[in-house]
Amino acid sequence: MDPFLDGLSQHLGPAGLVTDPADMAPYLVDWRKAFSGTARAVLRPGTTDQVSAAVRLCERHGVGIVPQGGNTGLAGGATPAGPGPQVVLSLARMAAIGKPDPIGMMVEVQAGCILQTVKEAVAEVGRQLPISLAAEGSAMIGGVISTNAGGVNVLRYGMARDFVLGLEVVLADGTVVNGLKPLRKDNAGLDWKHLFIGSEGAFGIVTSAVLRLAPSSRSRQVALLCVKDLEAAISLLGLFQDRMGETLSAFELISADAMRLVENQCGLAMPVSGGAWFLLVEASSSLDGLAAAMETALEAAFNSGLVSDGTLAASEQQARSLWALREHLTEAEARAGKSLKHDVSLPLRRMEAFLERIGARLDEMAPAARLNTFGHLGDGNLHMNVILGDTPAELASKISAMVHDLIVEAGGSISAEHGLGQYRLEEWQRLTPKAERDLAIGIKKAIDPNGLMNPGKAIPGAGERI
Ligand code: FAD
Ligand code: MLT
Ligand code: ZN
Repeated sequence: MDPFLDGLSQHLGPAGLVTDPADMAPYLVDWRKAFSGTARAVLRPGTTDQVSAAVRLCERHGVGIVPQGGNTGLAGGATPAGPGPQVVLSLARMAAIGKPDPIGMMVEVQAGCILQTVKEAVAEVGRQLPISLAAEGSAMIGGVISTNAGGVNVLRYGMARDFVLGLEVVLADGTVVNGLKPLRKDNAGLDWKHLFIGSEGAFGIVTSAVLRLAPSSRSRQVALLCVKDLEAAISLLGLFQDRMGETLSAFELISADAMRLVENQCGLAMPVSGGAWFLLVEASSSLDGLAAAMETALEAAFNSGLVSDGTLAASEQQARSLWALREHLTEAEARAGKSLKHDVSLPLRRMEAFLERIGARLDEMAPAARLNTFGHLGDGNLHMNVILGDTPAELASKISAMVHDLIVEAGGSISAEHGLGQYRLEEWQRLTPKAERDLAIGIKKAIDPNGLMNPGKAIPGAGERI
């Protein structure tokens, strides 16, 4: 008998331990099927104490732990990587949702809750959790927090970090730290929860969270506009910010090519046409008067000559159809064959020149490749994904390095919202100033001295190449 697996079996019981290769297989490959790995077992603990016991056992046996939520991450963070024995620890069985507090505006949830399920639960008491992404039907709260997920409402509400009031985490030695305080203000010492938000499981395992909520929007207005160039798109962002103020809840940019891919791959029809770019604009409010404000803003947009065509959803059903076009972009891209993900952010004033340079360089380097560009324009975040087509595989890393070199030159970030995972770790090492790297690595060493938390991802640990 294997003492490690035997110990796990005693602590986790039959429902908590998967060792059959066929049953383990779905946990060992990512959503895009771009990464795959191996593991000694898949752990499915049902309680925080079980997580703690399993982590202690892994520490004793020198086994690395890969935390996994909904496995929708786009950077290979939840897939085992590199040498050394590892287990995948899935939070899926820890999915309890506490009673939402509509006046305190918060809810306590376990890490394995599906984002959409939490959103539905809080909607029942007239509140919302405005973290919105196309993967919300599968992504879990632990994964959303650990990646500091963004999505389409960041412009108004901020990233996942802005919704975390308290966390419970299990450290690399099995210690449980319970910070599940339902407090909006707490300056009593180090606000340690931020170490675990966005660090992709490299510091510990998130087991529960207290989340801040927002009032539900009673109405929303959604428009799809066509514009001829990026300059017009950015001018319109200013116009809608001025006219719609804090009600502006999404301002998404989609290239005409990306939209065509949705039509061709997913069979959805575009209701408007006639420009190089599309803008999906959403305003939402819990007060009356939104429709009139949006109509006036749209009139100003058309009168400015910046819009070549456009439509305003006349019903919630039409609004959903417009959003469906946006939500199918990633799916359509996945169906179009192998692609490279680039999740960059940069100052808006540098975006047009950046896009032109990338387009020109890509044509020179890889004529068979095509850009699939879309993003959260209101956040300065572009997904400049490259569909490779017949491009030789060995060019892939050169193309990504070219994009990242230009983004660093433009004063931007090589990952606005998806994180480093295993996909961007080398690029982070290549492009991040030493003082910044040393700080991250020093914190990692202090919290996880044996480098067992998510090895090969996000932050290099003990013994990993730096
Ligand atoms: P996983 O993929 O399971 O894990 C992601 C990372 O978090 C891994 O490093 C993993 O080890 C770690 N992790 C997971 N759970 C825990 C835990 N409990 N404790 C510690 N570490 C943990 N992302 C955006 O930011 N914005 C978008 O608009 C967006 N759109 C997407 C659209 C599609 C169609 C898809 C497939 C993905 C999209 N993503 C987006 C990426 C992804 O959905 C998010 O990053 C999401 O937050 C990941 O949640 P998950 O539960 O699937 O995490
Ligand atoms: C999105 O915004 O839909 C995802 O973050 C981007 C992607 O699939 O690259
Ligand atoms: Zn995105």
